[in-house]
Amino acid sequence: MIEISNIHKSFGALEVLGGIDLTIGRGEVVSIVGPSGAGKTTLLQIMGTLSRPDCGTLRIAGTDVLAMGDRRLTRFRGDHIGFVFQFHQLLPEFSALENVMLPALIARRPKAEAQRRATELLDFMGLADRRTHKPAELSGGEKQRVAVARALVNAPDVVLADEPSGSLDSHNKVELHQLFFDLRREFGQTFVIVTHDEQLAATTDRTIHLADGRVVRETRRDDSVPETPAADVAPEASAETPDNEPTTNV
Ligand SMILES: Nc1ncnc2c1ncn2[C@@H]1O[C@H](COP(=O)(O)OP(=O)(O)O)[C@@H](O)[C@H]1O
Ligand SMILES: [Mg+2]
Repeated sequence: MIEISNIHKSFGALEVLGGIDLTIGRGEVVSIVGPSGAGKTTLLQIMGTLSRPDCGTLRIAGTDVLAMGDRRLTRFRGDHIGFVFQFHQLLPEFSALENVMLPALIARRPKAEAQRRATELLDFMGLADRRTHKPAELSGGEKQRVAVARALVNAPDVVLADEPSGSLDSHNKVELHQLFFDLRREFGQTFVIVTHDEQLAATTDRTIHLADGRVVRETRRDDSVPETPAADVAPEASAETPDNEPTTNV
C-alpha cells in the first residue's frame, strides 16, 4: 500500500530524516513512536505528500507519487489519503455533516453522493443525532470522530493520523482507538498513526520506533513474526530508548 525507500529530509543543516525504508500493507494498522523531534511528523507529512523529501522514493497504491507535479499530486492526495490531526481542525461555521462532506465536494464528487457517504460515516461513528451540530456544539471526542469521518469520506487508501488522541481524555482516547480497529475490521482501512499513547501503540499490528530520523526498532505483533531490530540499527540505539522522553531538537 505504501512503499518508502531511502527517504532523506533536511531543513537547512538539520538532517531530520536520515534514510527511511518502510512498507505498509493494505489493512495494516501501524503506529510510529519516538521522542519529540525524532522526525515522526515530518515522515507522516512526506507519506501524505504534504512535504517532498530531498531524495528517496514513495509509492502509494502502486503510484510513484514523487514523479507527479504539484497539481496532479494535490488531486491524488484528495482521492487517496485521509488525514487526522491532534486538533480536529473542523471548520467552525459548518455542521458536522458539512465538514465531513467537504473533501468529497473538493474532489468534485456529486453532492448527493457526498451527503449519503458522510451520513453513513457519521452513523457508523454513533453520531447520527449530531449531524447538524456545529463543532462548538460537540464534545472533544465527538469532534475527533467527525474528523475521522471527514478523513474517510473519499474512501482513501490510507488514513494518516498525527497524535489523534493527543488532546482527548482517557475515556475518549479508548473510544477513538477502538474506532480505528472497528474501521479496519469493517472496511479493511489502512492506518498509520503517530502516537505517544503506549496503550494504543501496543494494540497496533506493528510499531515503528523512530529516533534521530532513523528507524531504530520495529515491533510486530502478529504471532508468526518475532520482534526484530531493524537491520541498520546502531547497537546503542535499541531497546532502552524511551519513547516519551522529550529530547532537545539539535
Ligand atoms: N519546517 C521546518 N523547518 C525547520 N525545521 C523543522 C521543520 N519541521 C520540523 N523541523 C525540525 O525537524 C525535527 C523533527 O520534527 P518533527 O518531524 O516535527 O518531529 P516529531 O513529530 O517526531 O516531534 C525537529 O527538530 C523540528 O524542529
Ligand atoms: Mg510531531
